[in-house]
Amino acid sequence: MPDSSQPHGELTIQVVAMPRDTNPNGDIFGGWLLSQMDIAGGVFCRKIAQGRVVTVAMDSITFKHPVFVGDTLACYASLIRIGRTSITVHIEAWASRIYEADRRIMVTEGDITYVKIGEDRRPQVIDRGG
Ligand SMILES: CC(C)(COP(=O)(O)OP(=O)(O)OC[C@H]1O[C@@H](n2cnc3c(N)ncnc32)[C@H](O)[C@@H]1OP(=O)(O)O)[C@@H](O)C(=O)NCCC(=O)NCCS
Repeated sequence: MPDSSQPHGELTIQVVAMPRDTNPNGDIFGGWLLSQMDIAGGVFCRKIAQGRVVTVAMDSITFKHPVFVGDTLACYASLIRIGRTSITVHIEAWASRIYEADRRIMVTEGDITYVKIGEDRRPQVIDRGG
């Protein structure tokens, strides 16, 4: 049984949520969160692809808890699947509240698929080694 109190995957990026990232309610904008998750998945996948990747799909995104200004957001990536030209990863975004650095909660998770592309911007086969 996986431990849901701990992040799963590789820590890929960490960033502090700033006032400019808020929605009209004053909480952090969901689009900003997706953007951080997308960056994290891209960093993770370009190492696997050994080249340029683009995002083709985001699936099963769930916003579980809000993020507030000053929270530190940490994105963890784990590999789901390597296809012919695509890579799918699961991303967990965890927030540490300002002044409560010891307590982390998973705020958002979802699956993101990237495609390796060449100079011509067309999909390229991923060399899986071996
Ligand atoms: C990504 C892109 C190059 C794919 O081109 P395409 O001609 O549709 O490519 P294909 O149909 O051959 O699919 C390529 C791979 O993507 C996968 N794919 C395509 N659509 C998908 C979707 N909605 N969900 C999951 N995987 C998908 C295919 O299954 C295939 O994977 P595989 O080779 O591992 O089996 C093209 O759609 C594109 O340039 N999109 C815009 C990307 C972009 O601007 N992203 C935002 C900024 S990074």
